[in-house]
Amino acid sequence: MEWKELQNLLKDMSLEEKVGQMVQIPAKVMVSGGIITGPAETVEMTEEMISLVGSILNRTGAKTLKQIQKNFVEKHPHHIPLLIMFDVINGMETIFPIPLAQGCTFSPKLVEKMAKVTAEEAAARGVHVTFSPMLDLVRDARWGRVMESTGEDPWLNAELGKAMVRGYQGGSKISGDNLDLKREGNIAGCLKHFAAYGAPEGGREYDNVEISERSLREDYLPAYQAAVEEGCAMVMSSFNTWNRIPSSGNRWLMRKVLREEMGFDGVLISDYAAIEEMICHGIAEDGKEAAKHAIEAGMDIDMVSSAYIKHLAELVRSGEVLESLVDEAVMRILKLKNDLGLFENPYKDASEEMERLLLACDEHRALAREAAAASFVLLKNEEILPLEKESEEKLAFIGPHVDNAQIYGSWSFPEKPEGTVTVKQGVEQKKNGCMYESGCPVMEKGAVTRSGYREDYSGINLEQMENAALEAAKKADKVVLCLGEHSGQTGECASKASLRLPQQQLDLLRKVHRVNSNIVTVIFSGRPVELKEILEKSKAVIMVWMPGTEGGNAIADVLFGDHVPEGKLAITLPRSVGQVPIYYNCFMTGRPNRDGNSPGFVNGYLDETTKPLYPFGYGLSYTKFEISDVTLSAKCMGKDDILRAKVTVKNTGQYVGTETVQMYLRDVKGSVVRPVKMLRGVEKVTLKPGESCEVSFEINEKMLRFYNIDMNYVSESGEFWVYIGSDSSTEKKEGFLLQI
Ligand code: GLC
Repeated sequence: MEWKELQNLLKDMSLEEKVGQMVQIPAKVMVSGGIITGPAETVEMTEEMISLVGSILNRTGAKTLKQIQKNFVEKHPHHIPLLIMFDVINGMETIFPIPLAQGCTFSPKLVEKMAKVTAEEAAARGVHVTFSPMLDLVRDARWGRVMESTGEDPWLNAELGKAMVRGYQGGSKISGDNLDLKREGNIAGCLKHFAAYGAPEGGREYDNVEISERSLREDYLPAYQAAVEEGCAMVMSSFNTWNRIPSSGNRWLMRKVLREEMGFDGVLISDYAAIEEMICHGIAEDGKEAAKHAIEAGMDIDMVSSAYIKHLAELVRSGEVLESLVDEAVMRILKLKNDLGLFENPYKDASEEMERLLLACDEHRALAREAAAASFVLLKNEEILPLEKESEEKLAFIGPHVDNAQIYGSWSFPEKPEGTVTVKQGVEQKKNGCMYESGCPVMEKGAVTRSGYREDYSGINLEQMENAALEAAKKADKVVLCLGEHSGQTGECASKASLRLPQQQLDLLRKVHRVNSNIVTVIFSGRPVELKEILEKSKAVIMVWMPGTEGGNAIADVLFGDHVPEGKLAITLPRSVGQVPIYYNCFMTGRPNRDGNSPGFVNGYLDETTKPLYPFGYGLSYTKFEISDVTLSAKCMGKDDILRAKVTVKNTGQYVGTETVQMYLRDVKGSVVRPVKMLRGVEKVTLKPGESCEVSFEINEKMLRFYNIDMNYVSESGEFWVYIGSDSSTEKKEGFLLQI
């Protein structure tokens, strides 16, 4: 449709029809099946109201969605099609590694490929919009949704968020690519959760966020802004407050920052029931006041709450809300439907034939396998990895994740979960004669997942499980322990006060270690977990996160050396939960703790070091790399200059491997304190043994800007340091002066 036609359509619509466009309900209200991702399964509404809604969520399937759309459009007074939205955050049927693991690839290219395949599969299943990328900066592993973020760094999250937007939408607004949502296989992205949902106090789900405007702008907003500038079609508000105002009613955040400063002109949707939850937050007397707060903050769509459907028309008719606010919201929604081509083709790419062709096809599974392997982070390896396929050595794979197919993130809804490759199935493809024993259940007795599931211990003979595992360990030359979290204990409503693995898993580690100390431990988790004892009792430890459909094959590829580990930590690993929040881009303080230990008048603890277990950016390979000192193209730069920082990287080991070279900057003195390091460049290089190459990074004045003492976004003259290394703890640096 042309813009004029959309305007005419708006003019023809009744107020009730307009309000209907601003309401989203679960597909479950219209058809059986589908999932519920919030406290309410529906909202109080009449059949007439249901017939006017603008969008539905949480149902996929070409046949079903085409049927829903057909019936809906036929009945709608102006035949306006539904927007169909779903949480496809790490794959549709081909499940990719969780976003935190994708962050550990440090590869925008790989992330974009995964997003593109996700979009193709989701589009075939009838989805128009995905509630992704999730770009909440995370620094607190207690929070369950750490698994949905790409980590603790603003710059890396921005790069990966842009890559996801390009992958979903088929291009970017900035690069001038043909950002054509209509094109087959493209879906609209919806960045979330605006803003700073990743900083709840205590890591407690939905808790208050108490960060300064400066921290909000420096740390939490950059990734959202980058995705907006890349052309992300939608934004979702967050449940939390900022400045003690719930996001869905926060006019400063939504109208001034998001729309005015960032220039976002797309559709703004609330998170699930978040508008009505302003009553519980205590800033709305009732649904009517909540609706008023929300429309004045510029919320276009009310996701599964009755605030808009019940009160918005009344607010307009009473003159408490200008109809123009409703009109601008409805026009944004109609424009998105038009950009997706839904007026011409309400079914877009929904196709049973394409479902059969695309879903978990070999090509997509191959990408999932490659991406999972690239996301694993090798923390320790005392010459025990890689394992040998051909040798006679006897291997025992022990642990509750050895043959567990639930190794994907909690926002994964494959139709055929049995298609997931377990560790056992992956290893059997490479080596015969291995032993496999689960040894113990995944979760402790009485522990519960986010959906209320508890392990059923009734039919389990714990002693028999353990004895069988120990017998296998005794017979083996090497043991591979597969331990970790239950996938249902990560994600939304899955915050934890402890980062320890379940006691029975630690007991299994201890007992196996008594009979065989040649242990490789593989850790499945959606967050950093406490590893001290696991590291003491293992000769190698590798984080595989929640690796998805091809997890078992990818793990086998890495364990047997067919894929040399290359992952780097996108989030700091703490020694203990007491250190949390802990992150690399922290501040010097007035009494820095040089060696990390107390006592003394220094920053830190009496009973724990300030050093992390492993720093952001850390990850080993099977080969070794040497990175030379940093050289700079000049010792000072002006406002319009480009400075080049170079190193030489050499593979000094025995395997072909990939190193992720990282460039960090430090602003030594500013009108406000500045982080000790800030990631500003990444380059992945693959080298053969003995081979070396030069890696260079460009530095410009824009990269040096920050919110100064007056909250102006500027750079300040002075000394800067450039660090280049293999992780954020590198001390290889060179200095330069900025003179503007
Ligand atoms: C959930 C989540 C959000 C998700 C939405 C729809 O509560 O907070 O990330 O996209 O509801 O499922």
